[in-house]
Amino acid sequence: MKTFLLLYLCLYVTWAQDVFEYDDYDLGSKQPAKNNTSTGAAVDARGHRPLSRGRETFGGNRFAPPPISGGSRYRGRPTPAPARGSQEAEKEVQPDAGGCTHASEAMGVLCPTGCELKSALQKQERNVKTTISDLKPQIRELTGSSNNVYNYVNSIFSSLRERQRVTSNNNQVAGQYTDQIEEQHAYIKETVDTVFPSNIRVLQGVLEKLRLKIQKLEKAVLAQTEGCRDPCITTCPIPVVSGKECEEIYRRGGRDSQMYIIHPDPLFPPYKVFCDQTTQNGGWVLIQNRLDGSVDFGRRWDEYRRGFGNIAFQSSKRFCEVPGEYWLGNDHISQLTKMGPTEVLIEMEDWKGDRVHAQYQQFTIQSETSNYIMAVDGYSGNAGNCFLEGALALYGENRTMTIHNGMMFSTFDRDNDNWTPGDPSKQCSREDGGGWWYNRCHSANPNGRYYIGGSYTPQMAKHGTDDGVVWMNWKGSWYSLKAISMKIRPYFASR
Ligand SMILES: *[C@@H]1O[C@H](CO)[C@@H](O)[C@H](O)[C@H]1NC(C)=O
Ligand SMILES: *[C@@H]1O[C@H](CO)[C@@H](O)[C@H](O)[C@H]1NC(C)=O
Ligand SMILES: *[C@@H]1O[C@H](CO)[C@@H](O)[C@H](O)[C@H]1NC(C)=O
Repeated sequence: MKTFLLLYLCLYVTWAQDVFEYDDYDLGSKQPAKNNTSTGAAVDARGHRPLSRGRETFGGNRFAPPPISGGSRYRGRPTPAPARGSQEAEKEVQPDAGGCTHASEAMGVLCPTGCELKSALQKQERNVKTTISDLKPQIRELTGSSNNVYNYVNSIFSSLRERQRVTSNNNQVAGQYTDQIEEQHAYIKETVDTVFPSNIRVLQGVLEKLRLKIQKLEKAVLAQTEGCRDPCITTCPIPVVSGKECEEIYRRGGRDSQMYIIHPDPLFPPYKVFCDQTTQNGGWVLIQNRLDGSVDFGRRWDEYRRGFGNIAFQSSKRFCEVPGEYWLGNDHISQLTKMGPTEVLIEMEDWKGDRVHAQYQQFTIQSETSNYIMAVDGYSGNAGNCFLEGALALYGENRTMTIHNGMMFSTFDRDNDNWTPGDPSKQCSREDGGGWWYNRCHSANPNGRYYIGGSYTPQMAKHGTDDGVVWMNWKGSWYSLKAISMKIRPYFASR
């Protein structure tokens, strides 16, 4: 019976996971009315979920924001070296410099460097060299034998001449010489019949070996050409310079904004990120990016944990310099922020091309066991301090409901928000479109649904809520931004 129940539970969970897309989730009668007669229009700012009178209380934040670690990882940047010097430094520090592969093969190929071909050729060249040095003594021996034979032939000739001279005078002496000549002839015959052929056989063997090796080389060249054909077209070549994060890459000479491989922790495999090496002197790991709505951000917990989307695209130039829409992944983000003091930069753009930003000197994401609680501090910028202050259009409790600092991460299949925890009909992530550090619910919703053009209405929203890409303190609830990105880098005081 127990097993049966368990099985049923499993089936139910699987079914539930398949069915509950945030989009499809139906609130039924509880769904806010999408017209004039409801509260939706009365309160233009919609980020919060007001208390139903007399029945609910809002306890403020359930979790005190976790302490933010001190102790900087980096001193200030060294004074920039001249261009040539930085290239040398890069070669010196980076063990992969000039090499063929990255720390992890799964990270893709370095194409088209011809690196592997080069190393194959070098290996074969070594083989050929040893074969040729084997060949040398054989040739010397053969030359020696030929010289011997030549000498004997000469001596036979002189003997013959001697015999002709002597013959006329002394027939007896001639007989003696004839014996000698016959002996020598036998020696020559033996040399020619046995030593020469065996030497020639050895030489033939050596030549055959060389031929095989050359064949192998030809095959290697062919295989390289074949193997490189597809990856060369479809994958971005990855710069050889790598590091713990983009700041280290910057310090090692990686000054172009593009896709790199970072390896923050030797215990985990390296992975691809887009490094912004130009904004505010660079060193930024892009952890979140929206710019065209090409990637769906209404995703499950697991996907937010692992990350999703497109890191970068190849531009006309050689490397991947155009970032895609992506979420780096909560595990990666948590790991990066816990390496030391980390700052976060949130840049956004509206549909007219105006840009603002919000920056927090401190930004920490706890691990999955704490449901990735977020803590920020030290705001600066001109977009508005949504994370710490909430939505300025709201007052009192309503504003407190929209503060993100100290919140756990929620997705539509994992409810950790601060809106009646435990009530499956009250889940911010199901209504607001993406995974986020929802409170009850948000003042900022960078992972929300992408609305082309900016302004949208409760009628357009799936659940009548402000589920767009929202930063309330800049554009309010009913304006979905054209672009928004989040970048992190190690914080060091000298900046
Ligand atoms: C508003 O919604 C209610 C149902 O929730 C409906 O009866 C009413 O006609 C709607 N009013 C308008 C103006 O659409
Ligand atoms: C409410 O609906 C009426 C028509 O039913 C409309 O004239 C009015 O502008 C609406 N108000 C708001 C705030 O949308
Ligand atoms: C909170 O919002 C609700 C409706 O959205 C409103 O009725 C209430 O007055 C607000 N409370 C405060 C303190 O502004």
